[in-house]
Amino acid sequence: MNEHVKITIDDREVKARPGQKLLWAALENDIFIPHLCAIEAEKRPNASCRLCFVEIEGVPNPVTSCTKTVEDGMVVKTRSSRVDRLVKTAFELLLSDHDLKCRECPANRNCALQTIAKERGLKLRQKRFTPVARNYETDDSPEEFAFNRSRCVLCGQCVWADRRENKIGVIGFAKRGINRVVTTFQDLPLAESICKECTVCVDVCPVGALYYKEPEE
Ligand code: SF4
Ligand code: SF4
Ligand code: FES
Repeated sequence: MNEHVKITIDDREVKARPGQKLLWAALENDIFIPHLCAIEAEKRPNASCRLCFVEIEGVPNPVTSCTKTVEDGMVVKTRSSRVDRLVKTAFELLLSDHDLKCRECPANRNCALQTIAKERGLKLRQKRFTPVARNYETDDSPEEFAFNRSRCVLCGQCVWADRRENKIGVIGFAKRGINRVVTTFQDLPLAESICKECTVCVDVCPVGALYYKEPEE
């Protein structure tokens, strides 16, 4: 097997590893594609955030780059009017039930939503979809960290990291549609669940949903 395949992204020829997903090949070459749910080690990405669309020459419709394996000679565009429209809609939907109070948020200036907005010239405060308030109470039961579900973008990074670390799955998804949440078994506060406070989930959260508490003075 060849050591690498050559692909062209936005008129730039780059190398990728055979079998690699397009998203990671782009990011490794400093080409930004919005993404929240992608996990490089995951063999079957669930492509739930719908933010990583690109156009591929010869393919009729935009595809999610986190699910598309690179092929030698592939020609990719990260921007087009169709891609931009899809990404904008997915982003606006995501923010329609987001507790957008950046100044109070521990992720402010280090937040994947803010990065995507900046890179793609999108507004965080969207007007197209009727905002849905999610006024969940913050679970601050763990000693070191807290979980504000109203800021959760349901990317699944924490669930995946927890499974990898703890095997049994302390946290997971529950409910459907607009009520979908990340929670513990029986919706218990984290400190009353089997959580060992290993904090791997906090480290992978791309927004301010899972965050470390400020050390007490
Ligand atoms: S998670 Fe990001 S976008 Fe949401 S309030 Fe916090 S800093 Fe703002
Ligand atoms: S808590 Fe953070 S990492 Fe977990 S699903 Fe929500 S946004 Fe993603
Ligand atoms: S990163 Fe591809 S759909 Fe979320």
